[in-house]
Amino acid sequence: MTRILAIESSCDETSAAVVSGRADAPSLESLVILSQDVHRIFGGVVPEIASREHLTAVVPVVRQALADASRGFDDIDAIAVTHAPGLVGALLVGVSYAKALAQSLGKPVLGVHHMEGHLFATALEHPDAAPPFTALLVSGGHTLLLDVEAWGSYRLLGETRDDAAGEAFDKTAKLMGLPYPGGRHIEALAAQGESGRFKFSKPMLNGGQKPGDDDYYDFSFSGLKTAVLLAVRESEDLERDRPHIARGFQDALIATLVAKTIRGARALKRNRIVLGGGVACNRTLVDAMAAAASDAGARIFAPTPRLATDNAAMIGAAALFRFERGQRDGAALNAHSTLPIPGLVAATAAR
Ligand code: KG4
Ligand code: ZN
Repeated sequence: MTRILAIESSCDETSAAVVSGRADAPSLESLVILSQDVHRIFGGVVPEIASREHLTAVVPVVRQALADASRGFDDIDAIAVTHAPGLVGALLVGVSYAKALAQSLGKPVLGVHHMEGHLFATALEHPDAAPPFTALLVSGGHTLLLDVEAWGSYRLLGETRDDAAGEAFDKTAKLMGLPYPGGRHIEALAAQGESGRFKFSKPMLNGGQKPGDDDYYDFSFSGLKTAVLLAVRESEDLERDRPHIARGFQDALIATLVAKTIRGARALKRNRIVLGGGVACNRTLVDAMAAAASDAGARIFAPTPRLATDNAAMIGAAALFRFERGQRDGAALNAHSTLPIPGLVAATAAR
């Protein structure tokens, strides 16, 4: 049994969690997430403000996570912290704090990859969300389609060539006059819209694509965003059209996410699909994926919104696995704005 104190500060959430147990049976003892509301004023995350907010929040957030778990520093075996990818200034706050804490307590520190964290989030709630599975990670910064043969062994099937799925939601929301972050506002608006009133082509998806083609698993959302911009500009009555445009946008984006994920599951003969990242909060996506998965003989696992968006619990769950594998980082641990997910295996067999 290992008990980890985990810290996440890669973007605009300061979060801490206590996670214990084993990698194949993690248990969440506490989770505190402090969302930085201030960025809404600016319609996007302002990096320097994010760093400063983390700096004031990190100590009380960690104290609260320990208090909620009724644990003290003595009960902790290791400190885990997101060290990549993300806003470097924001990451540095968590990494510096975690290193200093580990040093003063004489305990190990582990750097965790944020996207590996998203992969582990669902396992905290569903014991069956374990490898092998096909994973679709859709967040504000990333869109990754992975085949997960085992924890720590990830085959990258596809990724976005431009905007991430969440970024496409956020940018589309902005140009439709909706608040930031826009994903849930688009989803709510789309629920009032009619399918087919505004038809946008499904991005980077067509029936002629074959396994082995470069675009078979990859994503691209910037063209869809431009198509929405044109529809907004050309609309004669935007108040009337907005729900239908939102619906058309969401239908097209979800159709691509679902089709490519199912392609991956079928190609690798996986009967489990795991979703992660903030866009996995979207019920329309989850329901569409569940329907398509059941046709393909697969089950899907999606995290609850609290674990889908950025949080330290998922970092703790991934850290349990890395700790068991023997990972220990020392004073040299650094922050990186980009870094490939660890454990990538060659893609050739799958493509
Ligand atoms: O994983 P996350 O919290 O942060 C990153 O690591 O980026 O994801 C945030 C993203 C934002 O783009 C947000 O608009 C999107 O998740 N999101 C949604 C929904 N809820 C959050 N997108 C679509 N539908 C939603 N209901
Ligand atoms: Zn994230």
